[in-house]
Amino acid sequence: MTIPYLNLQQLNASFDPQLSEAVRQIVGSGQYLRGEATHRFEQQFARYCGAARCIGVANGLDALTLIFLAYREMGTLHAGDEVIVPAHTYIATLLAVLRAGLKPVLCEPRFDTCNIDPEAAERLVTSHTRAILPVHLYGRPADMNALNQLADRHKLLVVEDAAQAHGSRPLTGAAAAYSFYPAKNLGALGDGGAVVTHDIRLADTVRSLANYGSSDKYTFIYKGVNSRLDEVQAAVLSVKLLRLDPDNERRRAIARRYLKEIPWERVGITAPVTVTGIEPDNVFHVFPVFTPHRDELQQHLLRQGIGTQIHYPIPPHRQPALSAMYGELHLPITERIHAEELSLPISPLLSEEEVTNVIEAIACAPF
Ligand SMILES: Cc1ncc(COP(=O)(O)O)c(C=O)c1O
Repeated sequence: MTIPYLNLQQLNASFDPQLSEAVRQIVGSGQYLRGEATHRFEQQFARYCGAARCIGVANGLDALTLIFLAYREMGTLHAGDEVIVPAHTYIATLLAVLRAGLKPVLCEPRFDTCNIDPEAAERLVTSHTRAILPVHLYGRPADMNALNQLADRHKLLVVEDAAQAHGSRPLTGAAAAYSFYPAKNLGALGDGGAVVTHDIRLADTVRSLANYGSSDKYTFIYKGVNSRLDEVQAAVLSVKLLRLDPDNERRRAIARRYLKEIPWERVGITAPVTVTGIEPDNVFHVFPVFTPHRDELQQHLLRQGIGTQIHYPIPPHRQPALSAMYGELHLPITERIHAEELSLPISPLLSEEEVTNVIEAIACAPF
């Protein structure tokens, strides 16, 4: 493959020697959990997100689940409460709500943003709705002004799934969950996640729940779980956080070239946004394009040595694990996105020549 979708080996090598040195220091320190590196990263990431607190946890799914479990312990949410979630998302968004004993109510996205449609969300509010869970999918912020206003009108909690949106925007909901899965804009060398919030009580409850429910070493006030960010990952993330803004800026520059130079109409492909429409806080975790010839386009690019991915081929409500819950539910916009989406390479390390190659390969697509 000439241009893989994402070359993680090359990406992580570009952080050396600092990255390897950070790992070496932890190996030599003898402290692998709940040490200085985690404390330092939590402070750095809280400041970066403009949040009062950050709690490092084991992964993004846990971050989201622990926010909801904490609200249940605090008496803010109760078993069976409805949470409005976008139907077009990675399955983890729904799994977190289910794991916390709550009911995910699926809301269609807007086709032009792929994010939850605030008007459609408002139509789903019932007397059982207690929260809304926007996902900043593909690194593009959801319409938080409209969603926060909707939440104010109906007294709903707003919890943000920011697993794909590191660096995208300051926190405006009650709390946000991040994933540091290796391929994310801020990725660890394994699993990792974080909760960020301004709410000190929520932060303390999440911290305790993530550490077996303990209030101090031998007192357990909740039936918690073991979900901790380890020292190696925290040290790695501190090194990589220093380059997150320039890397996101590079992603936006690549996106601008794609938007300007791909002959969209001629090849019958829909762009995710126009050049002038790029929000300054879109961090382009993914650059999605849409075409009814998605599989042909993917095969065509593969023949040219260009790797792509599909985010995602099967929507959550059609997954075997969840289909019994949603039955024959038909969500035309979600299903269209899942049938037509193809993600182009957008690694911050792509050279200008590689970006040109992707553009030229699309321009000669045979349909
Ligand atoms: C939108 C979204 N939410 C949640 C998650 C879960 O994160 P993790 O894989 O770290 O558990 C992901 C991960 O890929 C995601 O893309």
